[in-house]
Amino acid sequence: QVTASAPVGELPTGKRKKRKREATTTGQSDSLRNVTHGDVPKPTPEHQENSHTKRALHRPQVDINSKIQRQKTSHHFPLREKARGLYESRRKLPIFPYADDIRKRLRDTNVMLLVGETGSGKSTQIPQFLVDEDWCRPKRVNITQMDGTQKPVTVGGCIAITEPRRVAAISLARRVAEEMGTPLGSSSPASKVGYSVRFDTSISPSTRIKFLTEGMLLQEMLHDPWLTKYSAVLVDEVHERGINVDLVLGFLRNLISENPEGRGCIPLKVVVMSATADMEGLLDFFREGFLKQRSQVQGNIESSSDGDLKLEYKANKDGTASNKWRMPGNINSVKGENVSLCHIKGRQFPVKVIYSPEPVHDFVDAALKVIFKIHYKEPIPGDILVFLTGQETVENLEYLVNDYALGMDPALPKILVLPLFAALPQAVQQRVFTPAPPRTRKVILATNIAETSVTVSGVRYVVDCGKAKMKQFRTRLGLDSLLVKPISKSAAIQRKGRAGRETSGQCFRLYTEKDYLDLDENNTPEILRCDLGQSILTMKARGVDDITNFPFLTRPPREALEKALLQLLNIQALEESGKISEIGLHIAKLPLTPALGRVLLAGAENGHDCLLDVIDIISCLSVENIFPNTTSEEKKEEAERARRDLFRREGDHLTMLATVQGYAAENTDRKAWAEKHMVSHRAMQSVMDVRKQLIAQCKQAKILTFNDTATPQNRNSFDNENSMLAILKSFLAGFATNTARLALDGSYRTIVGNQTVAIHPSSVLFGRKVEAIMYNEFVFTNRSYARGVSTVQMDWVTEVLAPP
Ligand code: CDP
Repeated sequence: QVTASAPVGELPTGKRKKRKREATTTGQSDSLRNVTHGDVPKPTPEHQENSHTKRALHRPQVDINSKIQRQKTSHHFPLREKARGLYESRRKLPIFPYADDIRKRLRDTNVMLLVGETGSGKSTQIPQFLVDEDWCRPKRVNITQMDGTQKPVTVGGCIAITEPRRVAAISLARRVAEEMGTPLGSSSPASKVGYSVRFDTSISPSTRIKFLTEGMLLQEMLHDPWLTKYSAVLVDEVHERGINVDLVLGFLRNLISENPEGRGCIPLKVVVMSATADMEGLLDFFREGFLKQRSQVQGNIESSSDGDLKLEYKANKDGTASNKWRMPGNINSVKGENVSLCHIKGRQFPVKVIYSPEPVHDFVDAALKVIFKIHYKEPIPGDILVFLTGQETVENLEYLVNDYALGMDPALPKILVLPLFAALPQAVQQRVFTPAPPRTRKVILATNIAETSVTVSGVRYVVDCGKAKMKQFRTRLGLDSLLVKPISKSAAIQRKGRAGRETSGQCFRLYTEKDYLDLDENNTPEILRCDLGQSILTMKARGVDDITNFPFLTRPPREALEKALLQLLNIQALEESGKISEIGLHIAKLPLTPALGRVLLAGAENGHDCLLDVIDIISCLSVENIFPNTTSEEKKEEAERARRDLFRREGDHLTMLATVQGYAAENTDRKAWAEKHMVSHRAMQSVMDVRKQLIAQCKQAKILTFNDTATPQNRNSFDNENSMLAILKSFLAGFATNTARLALDGSYRTIVGNQTVAIHPSSVLFGRKVEAIMYNEFVFTNRSYARGVSTVQMDWVTEVLAPP
């Protein structure tokens, strides 16, 4: 029992009336409108002269001009001035002429699937096209409560854009804020654009466009299942098919196909965006959702499958096509679904592909040679983007390029090496977006983070190693491992495309043409190859008890689901009945994996000092590597000497703790401290950020109830043997199944599964023989390795796995 009233906000009366009318026509009944299916026609020059498109091209500029006139005295004036400068490049984006079309489609339908090449302007422009639409304003609605009274609530007003990666969410928010001439996030209460990523949220009371990671949207759904803040959710980069995007899509499908009283019957608009054209699966996915809704509404059909339906196809005059679905029997004239599909024609300059004539054994070395070949032969400007597998290969190559550049002819342009991987601190990541200084060539060394998520302008040369680090669930071990694997053809094409965004370019593939032809066509969705624990916990916390009926875009294997349920049961996140427990509810709200969330709660049970210690260690585990790899034997010995005071014989966890406490206690020059101990200053800065955020979250979630004086800088947890035991036991609460005992033959055998596992060479316990070990991560390179290792006692493990 809900009524929609006028939109909030000061509008002239005439306008308000019109808007009110529009608001009702875009209401729930929309779900029965026609499906439009087909390419958005690319406007001909004629079109551009005569149609809305022309108005769309000119209108915003007029707006900006007049606003600037009015607000010349405002302190946001420099921002608006910059926005005006950026407007010219926005107008040239391939998506720009489609603005009116996209707006119209979303007035008519609630779900739009949009395909456009990377760089065509999807992520930056679509939110701006939509934010002033009438349906996008906050609406006051009255909801009838249990006691019959009416409660006014505000629904909508904000657009969420989900990104698979933190770096993309932040850099896009920054860019869109610049384009709109508004301050970013929490820097001003008037800011219209903000972002929210794990351990970093920057929004203001006026935020209308919010970029957030998929994981953060899932978190928000736990607190606000109907996403009442939002008028629209834009799901970006869906082709990456990470596990979180699959969950987001499942929840959104449920949300739009359920009876939307929770949102005061204000529909949520959903836009799903992809850089690759394969949208058929998604089209079916959303259609099924609407069919389900219809069958519920009409009450006659329990469930419908495609087999029940007949599809009628009609070509429209404007080049689009409409599908109409007809159901047999008593529901005979269903108009069609509320889904439209649209293709944006991209702008891509030719890219010449150069394959390696022979298979490459050491791609870091091969990349080094190619970088300098380009640098010696090709003129500047023209930056180089190198795709590598992970932090280690990036850092190795960074070192080699810098070293080699020292011996370069001083007459040549300079080289500026910029690493780009997920675990880097935000400020360092953002440096790649700054244009190269004069007479300098940027060489960006990136993981697949730069494949589609971020657009770095100035790149003309791409060097592609053809591999990426991927998560792979190993069912026998019940664990995720990170494996370096060949990329798919579609990833190779994306990588190549990065060289042809602004002008023609070249792509050096460090593999043979035959290897390219042998690659898989597409990436395997992550849901088929990773641990499902966190996803299941999110579903359970959001009230989905029957996991098997959840609308998965791709259904995960049953075995993996069972393993994940078992894992959650082991850490007491679920009750025996399969329902979520109190512990599970707490864990689901933490921005951590279930195992680390369990560790944090166990730390809290062991007292506040233990919790702070555990937070320090978890912070280290959340950034990739605080101890940089050593390349030579000589360096290795030097590192061992430099880190000697930090190393703890109990293992890596307490070593991390000693490092954080040593670094935090340094008040004068932390950079010098890090250099002296051969610890990554960059990684430690991230650790400190994460630590601060985790402490704040623990206070907010009332896990830390005391008013501590923000982690005393000079804590020392090593005076007391008991406190060390408490820390290790807290970790066991989350990782009891990641344990191995020493076998008679001197190898370690996992306690669950009896597999052989060796201690990774990066561990302080490497080469040591102890009764039993606990580890955070399982890595498979040429053999199975345990990483993040500490000694434990077998009776502690038994205590957790089989409590008395
Ligand atoms: O989403 P899609 O890949 O289609 O494109 P986009 O991310 O909206 O980027 C469109 C253009 O905006 C890029 O070609 C860049 O010129 C610019 N851009 C930027 O300069 N900085 C960013 N952080 C993001 C985009």
